[in-house]
Amino acid sequence: MNKLNKTDLEIANLIKLEEKRETEVLEMIPSENYASTAVREAIGSVLTNKYSEGYANKRYYQGNRYVDEVEKLAVLRAKELFNVPHANVQPYSGSPANSAVYFALLRPGDKIMGLRLSGGGHLTHGHPDVTFSGRYFKSVQYDVESDGWIDMNKAAKLAKKEKPDIIVVGTTAYPRILQWKKWREIADKCGALILADVSHIAGMIAGGAYPSPVPYADVVMFTTHKTMRGPRGAVLLVTNRGLKRDPDMAKKIDKAIFPGLQGGPHDNVTAAIAVCFKEAQNPKFKKYAQQIVNNAKKLAEVLQKEGFVLTCGGTDSHLLVVDLRPQKVIGNIVAEALEVANIVVNYNTVPHDTNPPMYPSGIRLGTPAITTQGMKEPQMRLIGGWIADVIREVAHYRLPAAKEERSKYVSGVKAELWKNKKLLDLGKEVKSLCHKFSDD
Ligand SMILES: Cc1ncc(COP(=O)(O)O)c(C=O)c1O
Repeated sequence: MNKLNKTDLEIANLIKLEEKRETEVLEMIPSENYASTAVREAIGSVLTNKYSEGYANKRYYQGNRYVDEVEKLAVLRAKELFNVPHANVQPYSGSPANSAVYFALLRPGDKIMGLRLSGGGHLTHGHPDVTFSGRYFKSVQYDVESDGWIDMNKAAKLAKKEKPDIIVVGTTAYPRILQWKKWREIADKCGALILADVSHIAGMIAGGAYPSPVPYADVVMFTTHKTMRGPRGAVLLVTNRGLKRDPDMAKKIDKAIFPGLQGGPHDNVTAAIAVCFKEAQNPKFKKYAQQIVNNAKKLAEVLQKEGFVLTCGGTDSHLLVVDLRPQKVIGNIVAEALEVANIVVNYNTVPHDTNPPMYPSGIRLGTPAITTQGMKEPQMRLIGGWIADVIREVAHYRLPAAKEERSKYVSGVKAELWKNKKLLDLGKEVKSLCHKFSDD
């Protein structure tokens, strides 16, 4: 930061503050993680200077002899790690990667079947009206049941009736295992492709702590910055099954990324993706992946013992969703109170939430980042107890029935929370725990 301090003190100071924040809180947003110093060195490297439209050995610019090798390594490691014949490491992020799959394999007006956003799907899975996937394609959405589980019989019936061209199997808030084999059977009955969006769980799949969709899906997409612990980016994999169905599938996916939707790849990010794959090939990563799940299960157990309701009754993965309807307090207030106590989570809808998405009835929390910091079951016991204390501390706050009063009320409560001595004192305890752990 020596140079940045001299060039732009304002930005340098903000980065320092963020660095401090990240070491003083429990980062429990399930889609976040701490990338290693090695990954961050690659992102900050001279590779950011280069233009390299095209693919290795087929570039539209000169001077790519080292960039070619970087991209080839990233592709090779992706193929080895996930056991697939084809990988594209250029997608800028998860949303453009999903768009590229539709652009490559569907025609405008074809039908996408994806999980409803409020049930834990993603905007890019065919969310109607406002998104690319919902506006340029027909969209049909499956949902989770009121207990949080996906009912595979209902999904089968919907697919049989609607005959989608592609089924997107992927979630942002589903704590249980996705039934890849059953999804394949459903897709085969209506002739649909399967896109497995494993953005959240890719690291656990790579580490063997979550079943892989590769034997069942045609295309797999994942972001590299969540459990994969890499830079912000995404990867598209084409499976043997996909290639058997359409021998041109890999070419179509590549063409959709470039020149279809993107320009020059971010070579510094490609290098960092290669680095995170190398880290994931280390046997230590297997332990990490399993510990994420062990920690989430322990946390779920503690919260349930404290009397809280979890969607799906617990977790088999990296995340859990606390249903706050029995406490009658909204997720926004609990999430803010937790932040005062230096525990960072996000508010979230719960299955069939009757509250508006702006004031949902749940919080979503996950263990990938705190597991990177080296925390294990004893810390989960402590953290579960703290979360329970915080929820109880704010459980008396009620969202006003009158819509026009809500925003002012929530702002007022938030301001009050930042003066709450109990929460602030707990924040000090949390901070001292965080100081005992670190990544790298
Ligand atoms: C399941 C899933 N798919 C796609 C995305 C989109 O990724 P990005 O935010 O990198 O565009 C996300 C991100 O939250 C996700 O969770």
